[in-house]
Amino acid sequence: MKYNKKIDELTKYQMPTKFSDQKNFLNCDLNESLFPIPKSILNLSLEAEGISGYPRNRLPLITQEIGKYNQVSEKNILVYNGSDSALQAIFEGFCDDETRVLTFAPDYTQVETFIRLKTHKIYKLIDPAPLSNESISEANFDDIDLVYFSNPCNPTGKVIKQEIILNWVDKNSKTLFIVDEAYFEFYGQSLAGQVSNYENLIITRTFSKAFGLAGLRLGYVITNENIINILDKFRNEKNVTNLAIQAGLISLKELTHLEKNLIELDLSRKIFYDHLDPRILTPKSYANFVLIKCRDSEIVMKELQKQEIMARDRSMLTNLENCIRITLGPKSVVEKVLSILNQHAI
Ligand SMILES: Cc1ncc(COP(=O)(O)O)c(C=O)c1O
Repeated sequence: MKYNKKIDELTKYQMPTKFSDQKNFLNCDLNESLFPIPKSILNLSLEAEGISGYPRNRLPLITQEIGKYNQVSEKNILVYNGSDSALQAIFEGFCDDETRVLTFAPDYTQVETFIRLKTHKIYKLIDPAPLSNESISEANFDDIDLVYFSNPCNPTGKVIKQEIILNWVDKNSKTLFIVDEAYFEFYGQSLAGQVSNYENLIITRTFSKAFGLAGLRLGYVITNENIINILDKFRNEKNVTNLAIQAGLISLKELTHLEKNLIELDLSRKIFYDHLDPRILTPKSYANFVLIKCRDSEIVMKELQKQEIMARDRSMLTNLENCIRITLGPKSVVEKVLSILNQHAI
């Protein structure tokens, strides 16, 4: 049987599953929202047509609302069933055997499988000090066709300033820049308003993090109309579910819920940094998670599990030996996490 031999070289992206289905466990391992889901979404019920029918005219509706939320034209938005699907589509459309792709390290590892399925020519720009507050600011994009990085960065939570990114985009007009803004809402700064000014800038976004809809799968691309037209040619409009669209529409209508959670998360981040033992290394995070350096990450992971908290050991990533990433949520979660870290991470 013939198949794409590049599959043999892939490393499967592993979703942590251990304990995560146990009700009393706190899932602080995948940066999902830990805040309550609004009743209006919990009570959502699909009419028969929403179950038996494809999204049809609901897709333009959510596209319009996403445009308004980002203060860009709906012509600059393309909706997908999750931002991972959007990213995979981008690599599908803009990458072949000859494409030279640069990704940052450490960064979001899931995209590696999308890229490696298309090209072997993948290069890394390594953050020499991922635990410091300094972000990558110098880069050489000569001979690079495509660049991907997340901003804020998963797993460090650090950000690269807009002026730096725009300078890169401006000076390297033959290189396509994909900026993954999955954690935008926790940071508050976006390049969305810039997409029409550049031919080579794509932003991806999601409802999975700040909006708390990870299980429903809703994400989107913000880019110029030319790239939208390319991606739209092979996008399968049937892939976004009616339930996800309905939940997305409610989330955008009831933005006070999001705003309340963001204020609470801001407070949680502050409590975390104010009370974390200063001997524990951690970069300042602009996302809903923190990365911390432990003396021995295995010991800390075991302690967290004993206290029914799931976290993500990131030790295998570049320059992150003994580092754990933990999702933050309401104050009660942060207090529980802090007491374990201050006792066991040093
Ligand atoms: C940087 C980044 N991009 C994308 C995603 C995936 O988002 P979605 O649920 O929209 O596919 C994640 C999820 O952890 C992420 O960390």
